[in-house]
Amino acid sequence: MDISKYSDALVAHLEHKVTLKEPASLYEPIKYILTLGGKRLRPVLTLMSADFFGGNYTKALDASLAVEMFHNFSLVHDDIMDNAPLRRGHQTVHEKWDVNTGILSGDAMLILAYQLFETYEPKVFMQLAVLFSKTALEVCEGQQYDVDFETRNDVTISQYIKMIEYKTAVLIGASLQMGAIIAEASESCQEKIYAFGKNLGIAFQLQDDYLDAFGNPLTFGKQVGGDIIANKKTFLYLTALQKSTPAEAQELSSLFATMPKDPSDKITAVKEIFVSSGAAKATEDEILRYTNTSISLLQDIKISQQHKDTLKSFADFLMNRNV
Ligand code: IPE
Ligand code: IPE
Ligand code: MG
Ligand code: MG
Ligand code: MG
Repeated sequence: MDISKYSDALVAHLEHKVTLKEPASLYEPIKYILTLGGKRLRPVLTLMSADFFGGNYTKALDASLAVEMFHNFSLVHDDIMDNAPLRRGHQTVHEKWDVNTGILSGDAMLILAYQLFETYEPKVFMQLAVLFSKTALEVCEGQQYDVDFETRNDVTISQYIKMIEYKTAVLIGASLQMGAIIAEASESCQEKIYAFGKNLGIAFQLQDDYLDAFGNPLTFGKQVGGDIIANKKTFLYLTALQKSTPAEAQELSSLFATMPKDPSDKITAVKEIFVSSGAAKATEDEILRYTNTSISLLQDIKISQQHKDTLKSFADFLMNRNV
């Protein structure tokens, strides 16, 4: 599968549009986080979608950069909220500079993202702006649930799924829908490609949570065990509570009421329960289930079989990632 056509176009567009201006302490962190890379899956999806629905994908470059800009804004603020030291194998913005810099550079990125829509003609602009505002607000709601859940011990699996749908999956759905809007695809096709992205996004966050515990520290690029340190109520945790023995469930919930200075023993003990309870395996099954649901939703979208196959390969590739 060759997605380099899209990612190269996005990178060239980013280099052209994101320039260093004064004050440097506002714009340098923006350039820093955006050029640290990452998978750039959301802008690639926007460009692919525009292309596959018969549009000129270069017309979707501003929207795709807006999506990546918004994503990076959310990461800078997320890393402050999650107290995360590492992002993409490098220091997070608030570690390299400070928290105030992270807040304001993040705010500026959110505004820059909106500004990128200004190049679209009024009808398309309106549709993109409506979708973007709705999505951005949902991401904030999801992020708030995520934080609220850290100190709650009555979170259900369906509440967790709703939380990740909002904090992560809706943006992946919207990235695809934006490409469809720019290609002037029908409303029905827009809804279907959004649903494909949303289900893919749920699988994506489940896997992000899985890798947070079981990723290889040498290649993962983020702090392994960060979710365990912060007592995040992930699918792994909630399923382990259900599936483990009463004694292990008790140990797990006690561990998740602590914030030890040196978390290494806590991380080891929690991961053992994640595996022994069968929660790790159940998470892998759930990732596969959401990925397959997303693939099945491609069926009656009006794009060629070849393009469906490309989206299917993309979904499979995400499921097999280790970053
Ligand atoms: C990280 O997103 C945040 C989540 C929603 C899980 P990505 O895994 O897409 O991060 P990058 O952009 O590739 O670094
Ligand atoms: C992040 O979820 C979702 C958003 C940034 C909106 P995580 O907190 O799990 O993302 P990572 O693991 O830090 O990338
Ligand atoms: Mg985080
Ligand atoms: Mg977070
Ligand atoms: Mg994570």
